[in-house]
Amino acid sequence: MLTYLTAGESHGPQLTAIISGLPAGVPVAAAEINRELARRQQGYGRGQRMQIETDQVELLAGVRFGETTGNPLTLVIRNRDWENWRQQLSTAAADREAGREVTRPRPGHADLPGCLKFNHRDARNILERASARETAIRVATGAICKAFLAQFEIEVFSYVTAIGGLEVATATLAAVDDRELARTAEKSPFRVPDPGLEEELRRLVDQRQTAGDTLGGTFRVVARGLPPGIGSHIQADTRLDGRLAAALMSIQAIKGVEIGLGFRLAALPGSQAHDEIFYDRQRGFYHRTNRAGGLEGGISNGEDIVVGAAMKPIPTLYQPLRSVDLHSKEPFQASVERSDICAVPAAAVVGEAAVAIELSRALLEKFAGDHLEETKRNFAAYCRQVRSY
Ligand SMILES: Cc1cc2nc3c(=O)[nH]c(=O)nc-3n(C[C@H](O)[C@H](O)[C@H](O)COP(=O)(O)O)c2cc1C
Repeated sequence: MLTYLTAGESHGPQLTAIISGLPAGVPVAAAEINRELARRQQGYGRGQRMQIETDQVELLAGVRFGETTGNPLTLVIRNRDWENWRQQLSTAAADREAGREVTRPRPGHADLPGCLKFNHRDARNILERASARETAIRVATGAICKAFLAQFEIEVFSYVTAIGGLEVATATLAAVDDRELARTAEKSPFRVPDPGLEEELRRLVDQRQTAGDTLGGTFRVVARGLPPGIGSHIQADTRLDGRLAAALMSIQAIKGVEIGLGFRLAALPGSQAHDEIFYDRQRGFYHRTNRAGGLEGGISNGEDIVVGAAMKPIPTLYQPLRSVDLHSKEPFQASVERSDICAVPAAAVVGEAAVAIELSRALLEKFAGDHLEETKRNFAAYCRQVRSY
């Protein structure tokens, strides 16, 4: 069973992940993980924090000579900003400074429910961990899972479909293969696959920034190469659609997830909603459309896995919303932390990681193996079985 845990505060000394359950022999290269970390740091509308950090992974356990050993992996990303926060996040009781607490919870953030739950009077104890800084170590974990999936010729990519209500035209999305859309998006500071939209997006983000406001948006993650039969209809928690939805929804600020045409399916008649089945001796069973996003009955059907996600606007506003002080219970404006204006491009990269982790887990459940060669043998035998069905 592939599992991972992360620890670390946004301004603490480091972020850590422990990953257990990967077979031996999976290629792991720090440079490849760092490339993914750099992708997460980019995007027009990010805050100053991303200028302070240059995320680099350290591989501290479970990897030898560029391959996993089968032991649990330990990954670390150091926070450069820690130098500025040593005193405020000190572990020593003597360092407590009265009056430095965050006591005006930000609407839309974890500050208030977290303080009520943990009985804290200083929201810093909550926001340091609720912060999406955690997604850096998740992206590092996802990078290792991407390297594992690549061994089976499965790739995961993404692109942004809308920011602040400005959408990439449906016709543009429909006209071009998703891989090509993702390639174009890779060159865009908004990760949109339409360079023609960038000027308008830049104006929109600048406008909202001047107004002390923030933006959300939508993105799509695609996984290509997954064979049919991954996930299962048998139990609620074995359905791959549900598991992918949970993986994406677990990303900070993601408030909606759809599989394939998702919400648009609800308005279509059945005749236009489902993907007809065809057969070819070379290809086996296939579909000419992919409205289901590659998943039927919670099982992959051999087409691309296509998941969409909606991100709400960033909750920290430089022109803050109304809030109430945790101590005095008096009305105040919410506190302000250094913050992004728009992080949808970064969220799409995090989405890739979330999907890669969940697909790796599902793949290992089906094909197991203590060494990659064993997993590959099991995978190849199953693919032969499907081809000769
Ligand atoms: C990549 C990324 C970057 C984010 N950056 C910020 C930020 O700079 N400031 C902020 O207030 N929220 C940011 N968020 C969103 C918050 O972390 C999130 O809204 C908060 O933890 C509350 O969780 P919820 O929105 O899922 O309810 C970011 C989210 C992501 C995915």
